[in-house]
Amino acid sequence: MVKLIVAISSNRAIGKDNDLIWHLPADMKFFSETTKGSIVLMGRRNWESIPAKYRPLPNRHNLVVTRDTTFNAAGCEVFHDVESAIEHYANDTRELYVIGGGQIYQYCLDNDLIQEMLITHIHAEFEADTFFPEIHEDQWAIETIQTYKKDDKNPYDFTIKKYTKTS
Ligand SMILES: NC(=O)c1ccc[n+]([C@@H]2O[C@H](COP(=O)([O-])OP(=O)(O)OC[C@H]3O[C@@H](n4cnc5c(N)ncnc54)[C@H](OP(=O)(O)O)[C@@H]3O)[C@@H](O)[C@H]2O)c1
Repeated sequence: MVKLIVAISSNRAIGKDNDLIWHLPADMKFFSETTKGSIVLMGRRNWESIPAKYRPLPNRHNLVVTRDTTFNAAGCEVFHDVESAIEHYANDTRELYVIGGGQIYQYCLDNDLIQEMLITHIHAEFEADTFFPEIHEDQWAIETIQTYKKDDKNPYDFTIKKYTKTS
């Protein structure tokens, strides 16, 4: 099963200037705990947006997709198309999470490659240059799994929902 994990604002913003827009340590913790021990698949721009000292993401097998056949980076495995990466790990016992960014989410959803999504919905709007695709709610069974109220370290309310593909 291929899963997707993302944090989006109420206007579906996910990034700006190749960086995250908000700082929500409670959601970061959810991301880290959820993806720990798994395979994470990301686009080349997302990989480059992670500060060098934090990549590869620890305790996870990092896959990067790029069309650049000369791309090489320490600590990640490179694929030149999304399907090859997914097929390569189809029989692996670990979970495979697509972790963005915008182009990769769009590609995976357009091509029906995702069976489950964990979406952190941040209850605020942000200016952005990268957005998550529109969610077709009729194609997913939706379950709220965690609700957070803002506090001194996390400046926005957010809700984490699990989407399971139904059609
Ligand atoms: N809020 C969140 O949860 C979240 C999560 C992740 C990322 N983000 C944000 O998203 C932004 C980055 O997203 P992005 O859309 O700019 O870039 P991206 O999806 O991370 O990466 C795009 C790159 O991936 C490669 N690529 C795209 N489609 C491909 C395909 N079908 N086959 C092979 N390679 C392909 C290309 O690399 P080459 O150009 O090298 O060929 C392309 O330039 C940042 O702002 C980041 O902070 C947010």
